[in-house]
Amino acid sequence: MTNADANPKTPRHLRITEPSPWVVRFAPLIKPGGSVLDIACGGGRHARHLLGLGLDVTLIDQDTSAVADLGEQAEIIELDLEAGDPEFLTGRGFDAVVVVNYLHRPLIVPLLESINDGGVLIYQTFAVGNEQYSRPRNPDHLLKSGELLDAANGRMQVVAYEHGLVESGPLPGVIQRICAIKAEEPVAVEPT
Ligand SMILES: C[S@@+](CC[C@H](N)C(=O)[O-])C[C@H]1O[C@@H](n2cnc3c(N)ncnc32)[C@H](O)[C@@H]1O
Repeated sequence: MTNADANPKTPRHLRITEPSPWVVRFAPLIKPGGSVLDIACGGGRHARHLLGLGLDVTLIDQDTSAVADLGEQAEIIELDLEAGDPEFLTGRGFDAVVVVNYLHRPLIVPLLESINDGGVLIYQTFAVGNEQYSRPRNPDHLLKSGELLDAANGRMQVVAYEHGLVESGPLPGVIQRICAIKAEEPVAVEPT
């Protein structure tokens, strides 16, 4: 499935249609048929992959026009994630939260707290050091060293974590990424 667009006027993030390998790698840890929240979904490249796995997907973005085609298959919420308290999470729990290439610091803890027992966090975005390579350069949009680890600590079991320069892929730069699970016991992490 693709929404590829070679038009240079199309925003950079909408021209990337393949899901992040980090999301593809860890999505099998999500409970079969479980609910997934794709935060700042953009063109829905991750939501499309997750729907293909039979998951129950909710997408949120300030502009959901690029995912309108998913309206029959998924819950689509258009809102400003940075406007006040995250009331969109009130009374809701998810079996997974997926965030790629988006950071609004005040949301990190509420998102982790919205994950159900046994649920999974898959988060990947740019981190300190990326300033040398490309946008984003604003520190508000760059994870600090260990920031996702610190957020998960005491709340979730970390399955995998990386922070470093990734030169392959559509957006080379310094990234931080984590997969964590809300479970006491170790989970099987080998590919199935
Ligand atoms: C770099 S794109 C990443 C899109 C998608 N996660 C992906 O990996 O392809 C960042 C997304 O964040 C969304 N976004 C930025 N600020 C937002 C806000 N305040 N509220 C909701 N969405 C926002 C943008 O509309 C855009 O779709």
